[in-house]
Amino acid sequence: MTIASGSAEGTVRIAVLASGRGSNFEALCSGDTGRGRVALLITDNPGAQVLKKAERLGVEAVYMTPGRYRTRFGIEEEGEWVSFMRSRGVGLVCLAGLMRILKGPILEEYGGRVMNIHPSLLPSFPGLDAQDQALRYGVKVSGCTVHYADDGVDTGPVIVQRVVPVMDYDDVESLSARILEQEHLAYPEAVRLHCSGRLAVRGRRVETCTGS
Ligand code: GAR
Repeated sequence: MTIASGSAEGTVRIAVLASGRGSNFEALCSGDTGRGRVALLITDNPGAQVLKKAERLGVEAVYMTPGRYRTRFGIEEEGEWVSFMRSRGVGLVCLAGLMRILKGPILEEYGGRVMNIHPSLLPSFPGLDAQDQALRYGVKVSGCTVHYADDGVDTGPVIVQRVVPVMDYDDVESLSARILEQEHLAYPEAVRLHCSGRLAVRGRRVETCTGS
């Protein structure tokens, strides 16, 4: 199946969904995202630092309840997130440290228009504590991946990956910092590509079509 990404004209309004610190949210606000514009931040954590960042950057930000589960949405609540995004004209959803898996309404409404960033070279080290997993395994390179989201944990077709070395002296903190620098470049790049309308998904492969 081939899914062409974003249309070729107009602004694409982006909703960032985040649970914590929000450095990728900031990178999406300040980076070159082409026709993409961060228009909305939704968090499932009323104490998240990202709320303050959104306020400082003048981006509409809301806390919405995700329901009673710890790692996934309640179906009804996920539907409310979708309605809210729809009411704001959102065309692309960027997960940026949202500690929750999607299974229902968000993917139904926005399938092929939901991205996620993960701090490893997927498919290695999905899930929690990716940097720690990489150090324990002993890999010599790691990095970050931006991919289209599906209903798995850090699965879905890969859009952009960036690589960093793993040094002998690294601990989780130093490796995470090196990867995070690359995340802040990779996410705007993936959004820019998507919003250019030149990405095509063929099976698991995301290809960039060269336009005239
Ligand atoms: C980032 O490192 C992101 O890759 C990771 O959470 C962090 C959020 O940081 N996401 C995952 O591990 C998803 N599986 P941020 O709040 O500063 O953007």
